[in-house]
Amino acid sequence: MAKLIGPDKINTAVFISGTGSNLLNLIKFSKSKKSKITIKFVISNNLNAKGLGYAKIYNIEKKVLNFKNQRFCERKILSYLKRKNVKLICLAGFLKILSKNFINNFQGKILNIHPSLLPKYKGLNTHKRVLQNKEKFSGCTVHLVNSKLDSGKIILQKKVKVFKNDSEKNLSKRILIQEHKLYPKAIIKLFPNPQKKS
Ligand code: GRF
Repeated sequence: MAKLIGPDKINTAVFISGTGSNLLNLIKFSKSKKSKITIKFVISNNLNAKGLGYAKIYNIEKKVLNFKNQRFCERKILSYLKRKNVKLICLAGFLKILSKNFINNFQGKILNIHPSLLPKYKGLNTHKRVLQNKEKFSGCTVHLVNSKLDSGKIILQKKVKVFKNDSEKNLSKRILIQEHKLYPKAIIKLFPNPQKKS
């Protein structure tokens, strides 16, 4: 996917809209020895996103763009990312749908985490729909982003059992725990050996 030579890490940007637990998890992962990423930017479409606080704590540059004029905002983001030579984008609870043009600029280099076993339950309100349909299992998926919603190549998935009488809150909590394990694993899978060209 990307060329990695020597000890260099992959400059990464994380896009968020809300709580940012996956962001915090990726920040911690980026600081571990086995990590191949370094987080250069946190980008949010929401000024009140709790996750922006983590950028502050860890001294990571943050940019907030309201996406009212999506073309303009995406152009700005692209210039920020170019400036810091960002090669990987991790979407983590980012609620805006990126344009085809933006995705084309980062073809094969945008990851997303989704709280279902894709291709099942694309889009929003996954846990609610899973419970309504009385599924026995749900889970989470890390996938590459393409121009169709939650439809890019699957990198890794983790199954989570749905219990009888599960609530959305309980199910989402158990899935989130697995998300925090899965996202770093997916990144390691994509960038297995920083010492060699891949
Ligand atoms: C996660 O469940 C993620 O799968 C989905 O949005 C949620 C974001 O949670 N895309 P957080 O903001 O990382 O805590």
